[in-house]
Amino acid sequence: MNNLYQLAKDCFLMAAPDDKIALTYSTAAAWQAGQLEWREGDTPLLLNEPGRLEQPEIVMPRDLPKRNVGGEQGRAAMIHAMAHIELTAINLAWDSIYRYRDMPRAYYDDWVQCAKEEAGHFEMLRQRLREMGYDYGSFPAHNELWKMAVTTADDLMDRMAIVHRVFEARALDVVPNTLERFDQLGDHEMVKTLTVICNDEIGHVSAGTRWFHYRCEQEQLDPDATFFILLKRYLKRPLKGPFNHDVRLQTGFSKNELDYLEQQWH
Ligand SMILES: [Fe+2]
Ligand SMILES: [Fe+2]
Repeated sequence: MNNLYQLAKDCFLMAAPDDKIALTYSTAAAWQAGQLEWREGDTPLLLNEPGRLEQPEIVMPRDLPKRNVGGEQGRAAMIHAMAHIELTAINLAWDSIYRYRDMPRAYYDDWVQCAKEEAGHFEMLRQRLREMGYDYGSFPAHNELWKMAVTTADDLMDRMAIVHRVFEARALDVVPNTLERFDQLGDHEMVKTLTVICNDEIGHVSAGTRWFHYRCEQEQLDPDATFFILLKRYLKRPLKGPFNHDVRLQTGFSKNELDYLEQQWH
């Protein structure tokens, strides 16, 4: 029987996006059909660098060219930035499977499903880039999401809180506006794609909340107070709003947490 952790590692280390996506889909299908061993596996190696090709070039966020979304090239650059985040999110999901071994089956169900959906997001965005005469790798990209994944890697609680409930949750606030802009530009393909992404991300952030709460309960910690401590520990400055309260509530944010975020922002 193939092993979930071994395949998660292979997906993570696969460099070419097409191969990574194909292996992600086949691994997800095998897992969801109950065909993978998961109670045992080799001791996790310290893997901090996912496989990647030479392109795109990785730069600091401040070194990315300014984008004018009204222009064709600016729009492509924006889609490229989103595609890079989706590819990173695939690596992140496999890493969270490979790295944390003491979790119930439902945890692996959540992140396998997430890896599969992120692969779908990447494919749709890449397809749109190709239609516009570009491809993944045509623009530079920044790696802030992955850096935070590495920074929080030692502790599942921190990973869930910061990577999913801060970074990924940010998409819940901003993607609806981005969708509206593409709608105004008449880019119906992107409107469809972003609608799928918006919906799926609700599930990913909810999974982040679920496993953050699970760990808090195991360690007998108050989740809200713990979340606030982790925000202070990992972020240089308070999160900027506006926050999408309705959607965040759906993903398990408490009213108390949202009040705190608002208070810190203002
Ligand atoms: Fe995504
Ligand atoms: Fe996601």
